Amino acid sequence: MKVAVFSTKKYDCQSFKEANETYDHELSFLEARLTQQTAELAAGFPAICLFINDLADRTVLKQLARGGTRAIALRCAGYNNVDVDAATELGITVVRVPAYSPYAVAEHAVGLVLMLNRKLYRAYNRVREDNFALDGLLGFDIHGTTVGVVGTGKIGQCFAQIMSGFGCTLLGYDLYPNEDCKAIGIHYVGLAELFAQADIISLHCPLLPATHHLVNEQAIAQMKPGVMLINTSRGGLVDTRAVIEGIKSGQIGYFGTDVYEDEADLFFEDLSDQVIRDDTFQLLQSFSNVVITAHQAFFTRNALGAIAHTTLGNLTEVEQGRPLKNQVTA
Ligand code: NAI
Repeated sequence: MKVAVFSTKKYDCQSFKEANETYDHELSFLEARLTQQTAELAAGFPAICLFINDLADRTVLKQLARGGTRAIALRCAGYNNVDVDAATELGITVVRVPAYSPYAVAEHAVGLVLMLNRKLYRAYNRVREDNFALDGLLGFDIHGTTVGVVGTGKIGQCFAQIMSGFGCTLLGYDLYPNEDCKAIGIHYVGLAELFAQADIISLHCPLLPATHHLVNEQAIAQMKPGVMLINTSRGGLVDTRAVIEGIKSGQIGYFGTDVYEDEADLFFEDLSDQVIRDDTFQLLQSFSNVVITAHQAFFTRNALGAIAHTTLGNLTEVEQGRPLKNQVTA
């Protein structure tokens, strides 16, 4: 199948070319991010492959439909960047990669917990400068803390499993409590109780209208003073301005995030020669108890291989008119 692959980086090209030896699709790799301005690049391609920050809103989808695109293969799990209702109306099929490596994301979330707690980012730089003082590096035992997991699906479950190894008490909140998570020791509570009890809160639910700004001013006020908040899910789950106020007041003691509400114009690019004009992001960066990574939680060898294979398999199913295992429906 002829596929235009948007937002391609060198590593995508490599993993997709390797996996495509099995599938034999005709892949055209484009560096451009899909937007209203770039949608015409898809003209003549029956399928396109998108990543997290490609935008397929109603306007873009109409442009795609006019150009003959009939399928969108997302090479990610989340699909908040695609207007699925509009795609369905326009006869565009949407498929995704529901699971590739929950371990990759969960392990990164745990990495953020450790980095923030033991201030490893400071320690690394200090020792390189022959500063061996310990002041400012004081942490706490993770053992014995209460960890709140919001969204106990595949990634939330892996995260909880790892944190149970540290000897934490586990609280969970999900619309659909999961028996496997109960077996790990997660005790399901309401969201307000989780916020009130947890020393560490990690977000693992999808970004949906219902979860947009799940962590807002009111939610932060319910949390334990000095709480550690970790977000490896989607930036829009968190009201960044409210988090900044929470950090300034001391209510939030640590903030580790792999995602950011307005990351689309920043992440995945080398902007080190440019002036970043996003004042909110710059302010967030400036706090000593904040660690930001640029949407890299998924980025392991294992995950890239699995993403490429599932995406190309999804496209083969579309091409051959077979039942779609990984279709996103409205
Ligand atoms: P999943 O579908 O296995 O689990 C999501 C869980 O959230 C489900 O148990 C669901 O019932 C729950 N949920 C849905 N609505 C909820 C609500 N209103 N309140 C509480 N829980 C709710 O998904 P998975 O694989 O665990 O991924 C979770 C999220 O992680 C994805 O939606 C995606 O946004 C994010 N992600 C981030 C990556 C990164 O690189 N930073 C990579 C992959 C996923």
